[in-house]
Amino acid sequence: LFGLQFLRLVTLMNLSSAAEVTLVFPTVFSSHLVQHEVVANYSHLFWVPGSDLALVPYMLLAHIDVVPADENDGWEVPPFSAKEIDGFIYGRGTIDNKQSVMGILQALEYLLIRGYSPQRGFFIGLGHDEEVGGLQGAMNIVRVLKKKGVQLAFILDEGLAVLDGVISGLQGPAALIGISEKGQATVKLSVFKAPGHSSMPPRESSIGILAGAVKRLEDNPMPILFGEGPERRTFEHLAHRFGLPIKFVMSNMWLFSPLIVMERSPDTNAFLRTTTAVTMFNSGVKVNVLPSLAEAYVNLRIHPAQTVEEVLEFIQSTVGDERVKMELVNGFDPLPVSSYDETSFGFQTIKKTLLDQFPQVTVAPGVCIGNTDSRHYTDLAKDIYRFAPTWIRPGDTQRFHGINERISKKNYEELVVFYFNLIQNCDIKELPSPHSAGHEL
Ligand SMILES: *[C@@H]1O[C@H](CO)[C@@H](O)[C@H](O)[C@H]1NC(C)=O
Ligand SMILES: [Zn+2]
Repeated sequence: LFGLQFLRLVTLMNLSSAAEVTLVFPTVFSSHLVQHEVVANYSHLFWVPGSDLALVPYMLLAHIDVVPADENDGWEVPPFSAKEIDGFIYGRGTIDNKQSVMGILQALEYLLIRGYSPQRGFFIGLGHDEEVGGLQGAMNIVRVLKKKGVQLAFILDEGLAVLDGVISGLQGPAALIGISEKGQATVKLSVFKAPGHSSMPPRESSIGILAGAVKRLEDNPMPILFGEGPERRTFEHLAHRFGLPIKFVMSNMWLFSPLIVMERSPDTNAFLRTTTAVTMFNSGVKVNVLPSLAEAYVNLRIHPAQTVEEVLEFIQSTVGDERVKMELVNGFDPLPVSSYDETSFGFQTIKKTLLDQFPQVTVAPGVCIGNTDSRHYTDLAKDIYRFAPTWIRPGDTQRFHGINERISKKNYEELVVFYFNLIQNCDIKELPSPHSAGHEL
């Protein structure tokens, strides 16, 4: 059943034009049920109407673009070869995010071949510039949908995954469904002083003042907020899998915060607080001239329990020097927290689909530390989830945007099955009552 599509995955790794996609998914592109349009020249929007117009549609998102990959960085195979080794397909994009692009389209292809037509309509959005912010792809897809007056029951985009053996202390695999993402801010710090000759330097130069400010920012990281945001819910859901009394885990979250995800310590840090990264520092043009201007850029990833405004206040007080001017270049608050209770249609339908397929997995809400295309969709849906059933095992976290990115054939098949089942599960009118025995999700 799945042999052929692997050839196709291989073929498609490096291609994204509409013509080529048409050849790979002939039924999707010839079915009278599917409406397709190219948005912003490279992104794809599909609409599969449902037979029951009373059911609010939902949307599946993925992105076609990838970050660069250089064969000389240490790849075992050329990064765009999609070569197979020991049951794994290697290639840039295999877990970010071609697996979802291909998984969704392959699932739809099979559903259509089997004569399926949905009761609940759905959209599929495949962006082409997610890795650089989605400003063309995602934003224009949103514009098209807004013009049509579309409102969505929920959105499922990339984001979190099934973590198996990468959270220390946790027994068994955990499927974390992203219910929020960290915010971001870029702040420009600048110091201006009258220019002068280097033969008569003042006690402090613009460079020295700015360097002091940057040093203070690095020495004083933002406060640890672990447990203050929605990641607290992740722990509540997983607590019983730590092999310790739940009460102990919940009343000692501080003890667990250094343990949670992942293998690399910068990752761990990213879960605990708003991170501060000084990314650019510019000043001076000539060896014997005191520069009047020194500038630095600071990129911050904002913990869901903080806002852009609070982060700016923190920077100002940490720098503590009026000569250092601060300017917000751009920024957005952490994304709203989507629902995940018993009555949440999107969350529970994703969860049911997961548990039917992977009964051994614990499902929990989580927070994405990176951003996704879905952040542009907040006007279209209240509930946005970030998840694909990609299995992440020890050693795999470095493969994201790193070398030897890969997916097992088995896992790719599981993704196809997941979307295949999810689309059909979304046809129910409403969730069964959580208390009706035997029909529990
Ligand atoms: C699409 O391509 C045309 C022609 O190259 C260009 O003028 C236009 O700006 C592109 N649109 C977007 C949204 O990229
Ligand atoms: Zn991605």
